Amino acid sequence: MTTSSLPRHLGIIMDGNGRWAQHRGQPRIEGHRAGAESVRDITRASRQLGLEALTLYAFSSQNWARPADEVAGLMQLLHDFLIDERSEILDNEIRLEALGDIERLPGLVREPLEELRAASKANSKMVLTLALSYGGRESIARAARSAAADVASGKLRVDDLDCERLGAYLPTASLPPLDLLIRTSGEQRVSNFMLWEVAYAELMFTDVMWPDFRREHLYKCLEQYAARERRFGLTSAQLADGSDV
Ligand code: IPE
Ligand code: IPE
Ligand code: MG
Repeated sequence: MTTSSLPRHLGIIMDGNGRWAQHRGQPRIEGHRAGAESVRDITRASRQLGLEALTLYAFSSQNWARPADEVAGLMQLLHDFLIDERSEILDNEIRLEALGDIERLPGLVREPLEELRAASKANSKMVLTLALSYGGRESIARAARSAAADVASGKLRVDDLDCERLGAYLPTASLPPLDLLIRTSGEQRVSNFMLWEVAYAELMFTDVMWPDFRREHLYKCLEQYAARERRFGLTSAQLADGSDV
């Protein structure tokens, strides 16, 4: 696979942990625990392949409404992940970032997250972004609020607020465009993930549950991605020609 056929930015909706556990007669939290191993493998593989950005949907704004013991278990696992993976992330020159309403996270997660974010700030081999307490709509609403505040204070003219300007207020503005979005577990929806950024992303759905998803599955997705024609509204002929692009 050539580098140019690789996505620059891969997003993953890591779904199916609860069902994976329930199929085994185990509590849902065991699925989340097993899912952490998939996160490790996919992060390593992405770094080895040379992806610029990997964004993982780990906890949605809506997931706060799950049973309190599941939420608490997930927070503990996130804490453990940040502690356990710290040295590997730093050794591999990965920059850790986070998207979402971080203030809402308990200190148990927020503190190691902020610490690793700061410690990995200068790393440039790959950016690993955890979408935590994240919602695409919430994120667009926040961007609109910031833009409105800049209009109110005279920093921004209403007529200048186009897609590019509004996009710059989104927390993903510093990341490369989202090229590929994979969702595991057979569900075919985006569940409030990167609603703005998904505009021209290739979507891929696999029946594999997240705790079973390993680099072999990722390689298959990347092969399919490389075989797709991304037209961005143009015609195939224009793309082949290149002159009109
Ligand atoms: C994804 O797995 C992880 C989170 C949403 C936190 P789920 O917990 O949604 O697993 P299913 O979809 O119920 O199987
Ligand atoms: C999306 O999965 C959120 C994450 C993977 C973190 P959900 O399991 O919460 O989504 P729905 O409820 O099936 O749409
Ligand atoms: Mg789910």
